[in-house]
Amino acid sequence: MTLRAVVKGVGHYLPERIVPNSEFEATIDTSDAWIRSRSGIERRHFAAEGETTSMLATNAAQAALKDAGLVADDIDAIVVATSTADLTFPSAATMVQGALGMTKGFAFDVQAVCAGFVFALTNANALIVSGQAKRALVIGAETFSRIMDWEDRTTSVLFGDGAGALVLEAVESDGTTDDRGVLSTDLNSDGRYKDLLYVDGGVSTHTTGHLRMQGKEVFRHAVEKLAKTANTALEKVGLTSEDVDWIVPHQANIRIIAGTAKKMGLPMDRVVVTVQDHGNTSAASIPLALSVGKANGQIKEGDLVVTEAIGGGLAWGSVVIRW
Ligand code: UT7
Repeated sequence: MTLRAVVKGVGHYLPERIVPNSEFEATIDTSDAWIRSRSGIERRHFAAEGETTSMLATNAAQAALKDAGLVADDIDAIVVATSTADLTFPSAATMVQGALGMTKGFAFDVQAVCAGFVFALTNANALIVSGQAKRALVIGAETFSRIMDWEDRTTSVLFGDGAGALVLEAVESDGTTDDRGVLSTDLNSDGRYKDLLYVDGGVSTHTTGHLRMQGKEVFRHAVEKLAKTANTALEKVGLTSEDVDWIVPHQANIRIIAGTAKKMGLPMDRVVVTVQDHGNTSAASIPLALSVGKANGQIKEGDLVVTEAIGGGLAWGSVVIRW
């Protein structure tokens, strides 16, 4: 027998303010038609003044705990994927731990930008299968509205704020791919591509900075690398794309999502798509899509779910889950 990290609950939180594409038409040279046709985005949520990443994360965590039928003190590890933590330190994860009123366990952040949730889930899975945590909260939470250059039409229309969370629990398994839980993970990064997507500021440069992206280049890498990492993760456990019930991709651009599904030979009715409503919420996009996909009846217990994401670094990866 081995230990598996089984999904016990999922939840999400979106800030109240919804910003339709048309709102950008007043301030920059863009149009609702351009944004929809080039990215698939129709609207996104922006955090209110004073509403921070750890607040979004805490709300998502509470929703996931409720879904799991658990309370905060049942959890012994919190991993938050974010590139937009409230403060330089402490971690957003310890802020969530404090806000949840937890009196035990440990918490830390993972930073792999838009691929952050896949990296966080892989880390939490490793903690569970090695017996270091029995139950973990894995959260993706971002306030990318804080790092937008509002005069840059090539980036400012693409991103949004939000948070999603999963509760994982250690369960004994005989190790087959029919048993529930995380089946396989695949992580990659290549720092030679650091200039394709970055923030031009940070603690050691004394500014917060703004997001900069060579969109076309990132797009080109995305379709090629996402299909490859998803297929690699499936192959590791002897599965193929034919076994997949749902692809839950990072939600950056509907054309990337569709291109990756096509490369994997999967029809779009097996892909969970939320990019139209959330925009690109970076590390939050996959747990948000998992939560929405479960709530609207797409993802059911026993389904084979494949998540895949790419972002700044470049960093990319995939996780295969028997839901
Ligand atoms: O989450 C992390 C990973 N990030 C991504 O996956 C994003 C990857 N990239 C993309 O999603 C796409 O490349 C974009 C949506 C960013 C851009 O789409 P594109 O089809 O690659 O457009 P483009 O950059 O080639 O731009 C086409 C034209 C340009 O004008 P010219 O040079 O052809 O005259 C842009 O200046 O569209 C122009 N443009 C805009 N027009 C209206 C760029 N942004 C806008 C805009 N409104 N907001």
